[in-house]
Amino acid sequence: MGSEKIRVNNILEMKRSWRKISVVTAYDYSTAVLADRAEIDIVLVGDSLGMVVLGYGDTTSVTMDDMMVFCKAVRRGVKNALVVGDMPFLSYQVSREEAVRNAGRLIKEAGVDAVKLEGGSHLTGVIRGIVEAGIPVMGHIGLLPQTADKWSGYRLQGKSWSQGVKIFEDAVALEEAGVFSTVLESIPSEVSKIITEKTSVPTIGIGAGVHCDGQVLVSHDLLGIFEGFTPKFAKKYADLSKSILDAFKSYKRDVQSSKFPMDKHTFHMSEAESAKMIKTLAKKKGKNS
Ligand code: KIV
Repeated sequence: MGSEKIRVNNILEMKRSWRKISVVTAYDYSTAVLADRAEIDIVLVGDSLGMVVLGYGDTTSVTMDDMMVFCKAVRRGVKNALVVGDMPFLSYQVSREEAVRNAGRLIKEAGVDAVKLEGGSHLTGVIRGIVEAGIPVMGHIGLLPQTADKWSGYRLQGKSWSQGVKIFEDAVALEEAGVFSTVLESIPSEVSKIITEKTSVPTIGIGAGVHCDGQVLVSHDLLGIFEGFTPKFAKKYADLSKSILDAFKSYKRDVQSSKFPMDKHTFHMSEAESAKMIKTLAKKKGKNS
């Protein structure tokens, strides 16, 4: 999109003008700066951070306080991209009031531009409440990682025609509730194609095929940093775990062989100050002398 601040209206306009929307996750300042410099359209502070940054087995343990820390870091790194903060499990399901308050914290205190939450037609009341408070909402249907582990596991959703119709109806319900875009996760491309064609809301696919209006990848999968599990739909654009591992090993070898630090990494006193110090300390005993 160039070097201008991207707003929700620009994302809607991208769908209307057939321009594909690029989305990556980021959780820290330095990655956010690079995503923004690469002119990524949307930076998502996903609760996937629970797995790839905090080391949990799934995303259910992530709290609002966790999200606040990571959203603030990403906000400081991004100038132009639209920053979306994920609402963690149980921050929006208990009541509409609590959902609005928590979405409001992400906007007011962490400075994100929009929030994302997982779920279909049963959440339309909550989504309406947040949108009516003036906060843009990104929906998320298909595979719902916050609860998948307890129900179906992390597997393809909407394989049968009736499940496909149900996901389509969820997409329409979210559109009517006022979302500005919807993530479609792990669904057949036949389902995402028909949702993309029949709804006015930009669809952002992850494991949903090429017909979506945009794509999102978890940056740790894209960069090849997370070794725990790589889903079939993730494309590795770099192998940073190998680079990081090699760098750590070389560093250790250099420390052991005194090749690091070199003189250019070292601070020095003047010769006169050094000589005075050595003279002063010559007669003083240390525990080792
Ligand atoms: O938490 C996350 O990173 C997400 C993406 C997978 C869309 O929800």
